This record gives sequence, C-alpha cells and structure tokens, in this order.
Amino acid sequence: MEDRGEGEEPAAGLHFVGTKEDLIKAKRSFRTLEGRDILVLYHQEIFYALDFHCYHAGGPLQNGDIEEFDGKLCIVCPKHKYKISLAEGEGIYRATNPYAPVPTTRWYSKGIKQRVHTVTETDGDVYVTLSHMSRFIESDYFQGEKGKVERERM
Ligand code: FES
Repeated sequence: MEDRGEGEEPAAGLHFVGTKEDLIKAKRSFRTLEGRDILVLYHQEIFYALDFHCYHAGGPLQNGDIEEFDGKLCIVCPKHKYKISLAEGEGIYRATNPYAPVPTTRWYSKGIKQRVHTVTETDGDVYVTLSHMSRFIESDYFQGEKGKVERERM
C-alpha cells in the first residue's frame, strides 16, 4: 500500500484500503479493519466490501465465483455454494413451494445475512467505512473468537 502523506489522514471511520489502481489489479483483497476481516473486491467497475467469512460456516468468500441470480450480483461461497448479494449481503436461494397450487421454482430471500461495508473513492484512493448497523448479522459470528475457532475446525 502507498504511504499516506502528512496532513492526508482520512476522516474518522474511513479506512484507507489501497489505491484504486492496485485494488483493480488485485481484484480481491483481504484487509483487517478494526479487528474485522473484510473482503474488498472489484467487479464490473464497482468496488464492494463485505465480511470475509461466509455467514453459513465461515467459508472464505475470496475464492467465490460471482454470478447474477434473480437480477442480483452475488458471490457464491466456495464451501457450500450459498449465494450472497454483493450490494446488500442478502442470502438468496431457489426453491419450490410444494404447497402452492401449481408448484413452481423461484428465488427467495433469507434477508441480510452478510455484513456489507461502504466503499468510497477519493483521488484514486479507496476507503472502507465499516457498517455500523446495530443488529446482529449472521456473518458477525465468524468475526468473533468463538467463530474463528469454529471456522478453523470446519
Ligand atoms: Fe459458505 Fe457454507 S460456508 S456456504
């Protein structure tokens, strides 16, 4: 990473994660911010930042494919193939309701399961502001000590 010049400290809560050029080259970058493991990724000219460990069982999202499902760009966890929307951290899945008069397969949402963070760019530098959504989000578990032990065990 590039050295920050004197007097160029980012505003409180903003974490410098790299130059735009370096992050584009890397495509996917691991960072630890305030003790939290984050994946910063660049896809189709947009930066995203989300918790690094999958909400399901702590899988490494860095190695997941990115595909569109139900009109949403998602990362597919390499461990058990759960799909997580990049923009919202929503868990989505495809299923058939056997009780429907005419059972048809469609996409469903589990709601927000993966914590996503805000990415901003200034003069070729990229910053992440951690999400401060106060409610527990499932991916939070794998950022804690208990979760770290468990994800290494799996
Ligand atoms: Fe990601 Fe199971 S750990 S789908």
